[in-house]
Amino acid sequence: MQATDFVVARNDLQQCKVIERPLPDAAALPDEALLVKVTRFAFTANNITYAVLGDHLKYWQLFPAPEGFGNVPVWGFGKVIASKHPGIAEGETLFGYFPMATHLVIEAADISKRGLRDAAAHRQGVAPVYNAYARVSGDPAFAGRQGDYQALLRPLFMLSFLVDDFLAENEFYGAKSVMLSSASSKTAYGLAHLLHARSNGIKTIGLTSAGNTSFVKSLGCYDEVVTYEDIGSLPTNSAVVYVDMAGNSPLRATLHGHFGEQMKYSGIIGLTHRKSSPDEPAQALPGAKPQFFFAPDHIRKRARGGVDMRFGAAWSGFVPNLERWMKVIENHGPAAVQRAYLNTLNGRVPPDQGLILSLA
Ligand SMILES: NC(=O)c1ccc[n+]([C@@H]2O[C@H](COP(=O)([O-])OP(=O)(O)OC[C@H]3O[C@@H](n4cnc5c(N)ncnc54)[C@H](OP(=O)(O)O)[C@@H]3O)[C@@H](O)[C@H]2O)c1
Repeated sequence: MQATDFVVARNDLQQCKVIERPLPDAAALPDEALLVKVTRFAFTANNITYAVLGDHLKYWQLFPAPEGFGNVPVWGFGKVIASKHPGIAEGETLFGYFPMATHLVIEAADISKRGLRDAAAHRQGVAPVYNAYARVSGDPAFAGRQGDYQALLRPLFMLSFLVDDFLAENEFYGAKSVMLSSASSKTAYGLAHLLHARSNGIKTIGLTSAGNTSFVKSLGCYDEVVTYEDIGSLPTNSAVVYVDMAGNSPLRATLHGHFGEQMKYSGIIGLTHRKSSPDEPAQALPGAKPQFFFAPDHIRKRARGGVDMRFGAAWSGFVPNLERWMKVIENHGPAAVQRAYLNTLNGRVPPDQGLILSLA
């Protein structure tokens, strides 16, 4: 039996290939190891950011690949097909961070009723959230379409939730408007949904490309939608904060130049447009100094204080919109995975689509 991996060239993300390797022998698994079949995973622009930051944030070390290549981490589901751990039965379903592959061996540790951790030596040194697996067998919140929503949006919505929480904690830096770039992205509209629900007079302004304007308007969670070309038309007579999903340095410089000292906070969340490198020296810009917002740091800060319950309530309020906002598109097999990867890398996936994939 063979296992299949999808890997990308670390120094040129346009180069990718499918490789076959022997399936690990279930009988020869080390004690406490699990052989997991990766059954389905989500793929969005966020996974491209994992690849862009693969060296910087050690994502490449999670799932080993041949020299010069990397396996892009994805959020999804796996089924335990062989277990050498007495606490985990074959047939269990796990939700967490997987490679783009058909199989993964997990060194199961810290087993609880709700989850476990992969203790493999090469996976240490990243934020704990990337090594944690939830045990979700029989949980209707992770089954069928609900499961697709979890894989596609739960990690992104956690970021939306943390940014909303962070801005509220800082009283929006005294601003009355929040601008979000890549407004059509799932992470951005999750945040816009939360900001909109606050009904505290904060205006949400979505910045997007011309082709995605009507989609962003149709969501109903942005008070105003402006194309990247039209940002010069935004009024500058009151304070604003900027949540940057796009990671586009020229766009950021234009916005800072336009708003000057009215720019009270400028948080860098993503790199969807990949115009800048994470190593790029921060350019001196008018207004608040741009700073990276790294979700795992804020999860740690918020670990106490009922954050899980608050997140659960926020998620329950968000999910009913997804029937209208997102079509789940399922594709299976190596050729389909390669197509989905390249389409996402090159910005060719319509924003109303959520891709669910498997290599098998
Ligand atoms: N810091 C964190 O921990 C964290 C956590 C979650 C997400 N994020 C970041 O948030 C961003 C959005 O992720 P997502 O998964 O929500 O995205 P998504 O739903 O797949 O976003 C799709 C949108 O991103 C823009 N886009 C995608 N590919 C592009 C390309 N090649 N060139 C230019 N624009 C492109 C387009 O938006 P427009 O037309 O509207 O520009 C597109 O409609 C990512 O950069 C992700 O890494 C960061």
